[in-house]
Parts: sequence; structure tokens; C-alpha cells
Amino acid sequence: MTRKLRFGIVGAGVITPSHARAIRDHAEDAELAAICDIQVEKAKKLAAEFGAQRVYADYEQMLKQDDIDVIDICLPSGLHAKFGIAAARAGKHVLCEKPLDISLENIDALIKACRDHRVKLGTIDQRRTMPQAVLARKAVQEGKLGRMVLGDAYLKYYRSPEYYRSAGWRGTWELDGGGALMNQGVHGIDLIQWMMGDVESVFARSAPLVRDIPVEDTAVAVLKYKNGAFGVIQGATSVYPEQQTRFELHGENGTVIFDDKGFRQWKFLNSEEEAPALPDQAALASGHTVLVGDMIEAIREDREPMVNGPEARKAVELIMAIYESARTGSEVVLGSL
Ligand SMILES: NC(=O)c1ccc[n+]([C@@H]2O[C@H](COP(=O)([O-])OP(=O)(O)OC[C@H]3O[C@@H](n4cnc5c(N)ncnc54)[C@H](O)[C@@H]3O)[C@@H](O)[C@H]2O)c1
Repeated sequence: MTRKLRFGIVGAGVITPSHARAIRDHAEDAELAAICDIQVEKAKKLAAEFGAQRVYADYEQMLKQDDIDVIDICLPSGLHAKFGIAAARAGKHVLCEKPLDISLENIDALIKACRDHRVKLGTIDQRRTMPQAVLARKAVQEGKLGRMVLGDAYLKYYRSPEYYRSAGWRGTWELDGGGALMNQGVHGIDLIQWMMGDVESVFARSAPLVRDIPVEDTAVAVLKYKNGAFGVIQGATSVYPEQQTRFELHGENGTVIFDDKGFRQWKFLNSEEEAPALPDQAALASGHTVLVGDMIEAIREDREPMVNGPEARKAVELIMAIYESARTGSEVVLGSL
């Protein structure tokens, strides 16, 4: 029998319990060995709750532990690549929260470090595990919608002024890397390009319209996909009340529209086909659980994780292109940044 993979989590903040639960959901194959946070009391509290054996305030000390196989990064976004590179150099596999990092240069250095040190790099872009999205993407790929003409993502969240004050890094260029798009919208931006295919270019506008933050709380972008289709992204943390995120995919022969709760339209020319039944949401494993399970399998089977470095890079590149277009007022071609 192979021994359990041992995870060390760095960052004991808001998202960390989702990771600890996901590791616990795979108790036959994995265990939480350690938690590290410079605010060591937070690490201690979670370690006690989830039965982690060790706690560290200093990441370097955690990396020295030979019995940790995977470093699971739950830090402010601007620290992801730096900590991931250090993990790779220490021979640890890297599982990282979204966005993979907030700079393409850092992401490329992280991807290279993981390749050079022959460790896996997986990202928590958990929307890719959503049944609606998986089915919609399959329908597009199988050509059921015919030639694609529009692919739209509406990502309208509400984040209060208190949210932006709740941790010093939130809503900063330096560590959040942006606002409504880089933090919240990245989920849906990852999804729309995963379903529709790569984006060729964007025109955009973005600004902090209501919150007192330097980054955007509201953004719109017009996309041209490489397959010739057009699309829009609307992203916000400024609207009240928060809306369900919604995706609209149109082809010459069909339409698929869905939101967080299920399909709103599934309709094809000359077909009476009904929308596929979705599993009961309460019975579904969390996206974190699915992606931790995928990471374990990827390590065991020596294959790429479901959302590897180059895949996770795409949403960040698109967001950077949107920011650049909003800043310059010009169309930005992806690949030019
Ligand atoms: N997948 C999702 O649905 C989801 C949801 C929320 C957050 N996230 C992502 O998770 C990451 C963390 O977000 P959060 O909301 O949990 O943040 P948070 O501010 O609640 O927690 C971050 C933690 O990192 C610790 N930290 C900072 N610098 C450190 C260092 N040098 N060494 C050790 N610990 C350090 C802080 O003390 C803090 O406890 C972000 O990248 C965010 O985008 C993802």
C-alpha cells in the first residue's frame, strides 16, 4: 500500500478551512501534516480543528520537513508564485489557490520552477468542476451549437466596504492584483474561455465606481475569441444585491445559458432535447474536494493536474489584457503582454 500524501498548508485565512476539509475528504489517500501562518494563532486554531500535527510561523521551516509532499498555497494572491517557487525548489508539489499569481512573469517563473524540479503544479479554479459548465463545454466541443457566435459571462458580486477593510491586501494592486476581475471574476473568466476557447483580443473599461479602493470594482470587456465568436464580460463587486453568475453561449444552431443554480436554456435547432438533469447540489462534492482529489491522482499517476499552470495562466492573461485595454483605451491582443 502506498503511504498517504502529506499536505502542508501555508496561509490560515478565510479559504483555508475549505482546503483542510477537502484533504479530510480524501483521508484514505492524504493527510494534513502542517499549517503555516505568520499569524501563528490562526494556524494553531485550524490545526486543532482539523488535526494537523504541526504548526509553523516560518514557511522556510515548514519547507525543510522531508515528510511534507505537497504545499497548498492559501496566501494573498501576490505571494503565490514566490511561495510556490520556494516549494518547488524544496522538491514539494504545489497546489495553489486562484489566481495562480497576479503577474504573468511570476506565473511563468513558477511553471518553469515546477517543471525544472519535476513537481506537479495544480490550481484551484474550482468552477471547472461545476456540472453545468462541464456539460456546456462538451456541447460546444461536440459542435452541437454549430459555429459559435457569442460567449458572455456576467459576474456581478457584492463586496462591502468592510470586506475591503477586512485584510490589508484586499483591493490592492500589489497583492490582490486587481479587484472585481482578478479576485472574484477570475472564476467566471477562467470558465468562459475554458468553454468557448482561447481569446484573441479585448476592448475594455474598468474603474472603482463606488468603493474607496485603487483597483476596479466594476469592469466591462468586449472579446473576440480565436474561433471568430464575440462576447462580453461584465464583472463587479459594486452591485447590490449580488447576482448569480451567469453564462450565455450562443452558436448558429443552439444556445446554452446557465447560472449557479442550473440551466436556464438548452436549446438546439430542429431538436426537442431537454437540458440534462443535474446532480442535487447538496450531494455534490465541493470543487475543492474534487481538485484536491485530482491533485492526489495526478501525483500518483504522474500526469498533469486538471488545472495545471498553463491552463490557470489563461484567465490571468485575459484579465491583464482587460486592464491594459482599460488603461490605454485600445484593443489588446492576447500574447502581446
Ligand atoms: N477558490 C475560492 O473560491 C477562493 C475563495 C477565497 C479566497 N481564495 C483565494 O485564496 C487566497 C487567500 O485568500 P483568503 O481570503 O483566505 O485570505 P486571508 O487574508 O483570509 O488569509 C491569508 C492568510 O495568509 C497569511 N499570510 C500572509 N503572509 C504570509 C506569510 N509570509 N507566511 C505565512 N502566512 C502568511 C495571513 O496571515 C492570512 O492569515 C487568495 O489568493 C484568494 O484569491 C479563493
